[in-house]
Amino acid sequence: MAKASAPAKAILVGEHFVVAGCPAIAVALDVRARVEAETLPEGGVVEVESRELGKQTFGAGSLPSSPLYPVYVAVREVLKLAGASIGLKLRIESEIPPAAGMGSSAAVAVAAVAAVAKILGLQLTSEEVSAAAYAAEVQVHGKPSGIDNTVSTLGGAIYYRKTEGFRKLEADFSPIRFILADSGVQRSTGELVSRVLALKARRADILNHVYEAAASLVETARGAIERDDYAALGELMNINHGLLSAIGVSNAKLEELVYAARQAGALGAKITGAGGGGMILALAWREDAERVARALAGISPRVIIAPVSQEGVRIEH
Ligand code: MEV
Repeated sequence: MAKASAPAKAILVGEHFVVAGCPAIAVALDVRARVEAETLPEGGVVEVESRELGKQTFGAGSLPSSPLYPVYVAVREVLKLAGASIGLKLRIESEIPPAAGMGSSAAVAVAAVAAVAKILGLQLTSEEVSAAAYAAEVQVHGKPSGIDNTVSTLGGAIYYRKTEGFRKLEADFSPIRFILADSGVQRSTGELVSRVLALKARRADILNHVYEAAASLVETARGAIERDDYAALGELMNINHGLLSAIGVSNAKLEELVYAARQAGALGAKITGAGGGGMILALAWREDAERVARALAGISPRVIIAPVSQEGVRIEH
């Protein structure tokens, strides 16, 4: 038996724009998905079980209709790398709210890859773990940028660009806290990404400027993070929220949450992830975090104060 866990993520700046090749910055959060793997006597089958989604058995020719199928896709990648065809049973337990912008599918895939690699005695690089999880992300989201699986694998703060890969950012996050508040609306990242790309194609003359502004905002945010200038980062998050509204992924509930966080003293607040529902992300000084969380708790079904996880995927003993 082997067990691995991987962290959730929150995108600080650059979601959606990152799909079209702009940079983005995300942090890993200490809210984790755990996957336990054990071998089965029967070769060629992969049984996947989660409390929320039930149990499903996959093998050659399985159809991708089950929500657990992407986990099988990630596992298949590891089996391919190992040249193995053993049977496996995987049990998923996740603290990460699904379909909320916190990268739950990527964290589950990353943890599954690490647990299966461990059971096979296969030493994978971070890039290989992330790439196997990316295959699952393609199943879930259609055209993902790859930022979710990268951050969940590596932990910490990551500057990411599809064409260039990632760079870890050195930052001291101890003076601040991230607060996440759920809009209570689950949504599909894949659908939102397609909707945004369609708008970009239809209004290219206008939206190209918005994408350029987003790219330059992310570069400025990188400087702010490297200088530990959180007042500047908060302001940039607010501007980023405006750009996300411009590409059509905000709604009345998300605006209500964002403004409540700012009024309660957050340095900045914005949609995080695909938008359309899911979570908002607020940044606050450590001593203000409880006040911001209390203001949000009155209007949100779930509020989380999450520290940054410097650690990415890990084997659990
Ligand atoms: C999803 O967490 C973030 C998006 O930018 C999609 C992606 O990067 O694949 C909306």
